[in-house]
Amino acid sequence: MSSQTRKTGRMEKGKGLDVGTAFIYYAERKRGKIVYRRQRDAFFDIEQGDFTKGMLEKVNVNYIQKEDSLYVIGDEAIEFANIFNRECRRPLARGVISPREKEALPMVEVIIQSMVGPPRGKGEIIYYSVPGEPLDADFDVVYHEKVIEGILEPVGYIAKPINEGMAIVFSELGEENFTGLAISFGAGMVNVCLSFMSVPIITFSLSKGGDWIDKQAATAVGETASRVCAVKENEFALTSSDHTNRIGKALSIYYDYLIEYVLARIKKQMERSEELPRVKKPVTLIVSGGTSLPKGFLDRFSRQLRRLKFPINIGEIRCASHPLQSVVQGALIAAITDGEREKDRGKKAAEFIEKAKEEGKIPLQG
Ligand SMILES: Nc1ncnc2c1ncn2[C@@H]1O[C@H](COP(=O)(O)OP(=O)(O)OP(=O)(O)O)[C@@H](O)[C@H]1O
Ligand SMILES: [Mg+2]
Repeated sequence: MSSQTRKTGRMEKGKGLDVGTAFIYYAERKRGKIVYRRQRDAFFDIEQGDFTKGMLEKVNVNYIQKEDSLYVIGDEAIEFANIFNRECRRPLARGVISPREKEALPMVEVIIQSMVGPPRGKGEIIYYSVPGEPLDADFDVVYHEKVIEGILEPVGYIAKPINEGMAIVFSELGEENFTGLAISFGAGMVNVCLSFMSVPIITFSLSKGGDWIDKQAATAVGETASRVCAVKENEFALTSSDHTNRIGKALSIYYDYLIEYVLARIKKQMERSEELPRVKKPVTLIVSGGTSLPKGFLDRFSRQLRRLKFPINIGEIRCASHPLQSVVQGALIAAITDGEREKDRGKKAAEFIEKAKEEGKIPLQG
């Protein structure tokens, strides 16, 4: 092995994983490039007939067998659910392993293992995202964190948790010295992290997100949550103040409500915090996550924010460069720079971000 290869091999080690309520994202570096993969965090059970298994194998569908049932997992679960006109099942709810879904654990395990594969070398480090402690729900994140660790470590990884908001700070706030406020609007929750010089000062989560918007809007207009979700993801924008169709109007109302709710909680937590550093310079705010994708979101968010008086001055407000991938990218940066001294870690992370930018739009492999 040439010294160059050895160097590249060492440089490439380290993986990132974002275990989300709707999607699991995975990132690694391979031959100098950053590779991202995404899988839906879903499964669908079908009864086992004489030919079912053979058929699934023929069409290359990811499935597992448990007793008499077959479970299709990942993206194809949605397709099966549509064909059979049933909802698919989800192993996570509100950002953590679902307490109501008894098959949750084996499903998450299979999805994660099929994405991350074995470690490249002994004790490869993998960082995985965990939500902050929820302010508005009665559970902690310890169980969730340990379950994910228990999936990764037996395969040979050194698995380390990273707060979801902090991962966004790593991936988006390099130029600001890892100082700023990062907010991830996901499917199951909203995660918030206020960081100063890469030290998290305030982190928390709120158990409302895209799923909540779908459910509330669906109840309001008498539609299914899946139908509302499809409209939201494919044709909805927050730019129009006059939403003439019923679903659009309901979505708009619940988007406003969610933004207001999140901002009020951030303000309150900042006011309560005894560790809030006194900074004169306004801090940058990053908005990320799938729920922040509709056109006009940043505008609505900024308008509501400017009406409030925060204990910290907020400067620029911008969207993450890749709202769906900023968490997993941050987890990968954390893995690659793990073990570096604090000041070298920042430098390494900045180099990584520069390279990710050069690569342009990040392709997602399904
Ligand atoms: N174009 C879009 N417009 C509006 N919402 C979208 C769009 N694309 C995805 N979403 C919503 O974003 C959410 C998924 O986002 P994301 O992948 O960030 O969440 P997650 O990480 O799985 O969840 P969490 O962080 O809450 O555990 C879903 O609610 C989905 O409906
Ligand atoms: Mg997320």
